[in-house]
Amino acid sequence: MGTQPTTALMRKAYQRWAPVYDIVYDKLTEPAARAAVAAVEASGRRILEVGVGTGLSLGYYATHSEVHGIDLSEDMLRRAAEKVRRRTLGHVKSLQVMDACRLGFPDACFDAVTAQFLITLVPNPEGALDEMTRVLRPGGEIVLVNHFGQDEGALARIESVVAPLCARIGWSSDFKASRITGWAAARGLEPLPLQPVFPGGFFKVLRVRKPG
Ligand SMILES: C[S@@+](CC[C@H](N)C(=O)[O-])C[C@H]1O[C@@H](n2cnc3c(N)ncnc32)[C@H](O)[C@@H]1O
Repeated sequence: MGTQPTTALMRKAYQRWAPVYDIVYDKLTEPAARAAVAAVEASGRRILEVGVGTGLSLGYYATHSEVHGIDLSEDMLRRAAEKVRRRTLGHVKSLQVMDACRLGFPDACFDAVTAQFLITLVPNPEGALDEMTRVLRPGGEIVLVNHFGQDEGALARIESVVAPLCARIGWSSDFKASRITGWAAARGLEPLPLQPVFPGGFFKVLRVRKPG
């Protein structure tokens, strides 16, 4: 039973977000999404995008990539499918309704897995990361993009003040990058240095390499 109510709430929330999502987020998230796409493409052409949403990033991939997208929300995915059709994005091989914590793909079948603006929304982030690791080939990378809260320092104090405002738009500063790096260390995976991106380093790219 554990995560089901939250998952149902998430579907409901993105049913409401879907019609206006691109208007609000397209330009704001573009530099971060482009940085994530560049990072995953450096690992190879077989790519899984978890929580692909309305497919804002799908046009940033090279045409020789083979991209599979999954998302919990049918309403968001429908918009992604429209983009694929309208822009003839032939490199997008599938779009499927799926939970990040139960990926319906075989072990080690992707060169890279990316999740953009997803991980802080998942009730069991470590479970989702374990699934991403399972479907990733040895030597491949998980590439996350998000706003991650600071552990300490002046920025951490500012974040705690603006936290209620950020929470309203879905960017919790409670979720620290150290939660991911701690998970990676416990699994014997290699976290790479955080890459700050637009706007002003508020979003960050976090890469984790699976040993080869
Ligand atoms: C903030 S949107 C980001 C969408 C897209 N990655 C982007 O950057 O535009 C978060 C997306 O994650 C999806 N999502 C939330 N929880 C999920 C889960 N457990 N499994 C798969 N997708 C999930 C939502 O339906 C939504 O489309």
